[in-house]
Amino acid sequence: MIATYQADCQARVDAALEALFVAPSTELQRLYAAMRYSVMNGGKRVRPLLAYAACQALGAPAEQANGAACAVELIHAYSLVHDDLPAMDDDDLRRGQPTTHKAFDEASAILAGDGLQSLAFSALLDPGLSPLADTIRLDMVRTLAQAAGPAGMVGGQAIDLGSVGMQLDQQALEYMHRHKTGALIEASVRLGALASARADLNKLDALQTYAQAIGLAFQVQDDILDIESDTATLGKRQGADIARDKPTYPALLGLQAAKAYALELRDQALVALEGFGENAEPLRALARYIVERRH
Ligand code: IPE
Ligand code: IPE
Ligand code: MG
Ligand code: MG
Ligand code: MG
Repeated sequence: MIATYQADCQARVDAALEALFVAPSTELQRLYAAMRYSVMNGGKRVRPLLAYAACQALGAPAEQANGAACAVELIHAYSLVHDDLPAMDDDDLRRGQPTTHKAFDEASAILAGDGLQSLAFSALLDPGLSPLADTIRLDMVRTLAQAAGPAGMVGGQAIDLGSVGMQLDQQALEYMHRHKTGALIEASVRLGALASARADLNKLDALQTYAQAIGLAFQVQDDILDIESDTATLGKRQGADIARDKPTYPALLGLQAAKAYALELRDQALVALEGFGENAEPLRALARYIVERRH
């Protein structure tokens, strides 16, 4: 089920994303090419999938979340481009291809990331992507700004880079993961729910509990795959965390305990959806997928 659902959602979000990378002049062709390269390169599109699935869980058509889906993938792609830079994780391979600063150059990668971040907010505001009331859009922009910024993803990345070679305890590691990865995953679910125009506070609360659990589970699994998988499957260099002495869940708890923790988080997410009916099946499937995925 998840494979077909994923393919459908990927096609939908990719069509909307592709249209954003048309350079308005020849002078900007290289910048737009670098942005396009960073996005249209076969990501799993987990965050757009979550936005679509949350919108559907509240009984609205998935298409209504097109703006949200584009926005979260654009922020995610920007975060990866910057994450891979020599000043950060210094990685050469992403999604099976040279990282943006390798395929272009460092300045282009920095600017491509900057540009993608702005495009994300434009996507949320684009009535052509999602026809929504301004009050909803305002809530969406606030949600994304908080999740992407210093109180969210950027803050998590700062903690990550400040923790290299350090021994974090579980609480500190969880705090880092909830920020660097969890925040944008939570925002993906909330944005999808808001785009349904049918979100009430109870539903938003339950969805937040779901999203917090899978957001952390996602990074725990990312840490596990860094140990267990291989470079070809991952499309990024296996073993990079150990090579760089990054604090991770398997490093702290051991591999088996990290795996058990990911499953426990999945179960917490599923419990949070108990009040939802069949419309929430894609969200449930995604919770399972996040801890079962091999890349
Ligand atoms: C990788 O994210 C970076 C993390 C936040 C753990 P994904 O595993 O979603 O990467 P893509 O988008 O599929 O390449
Ligand atoms: C990345 O975490 C988190 C963000 C980009 C915000 P990682 O550094 O673990 O991601 P990968 O393993 O390089 O994809
Ligand atoms: Mg990193
Ligand atoms: Mg990295
Ligand atoms: Mg990683």
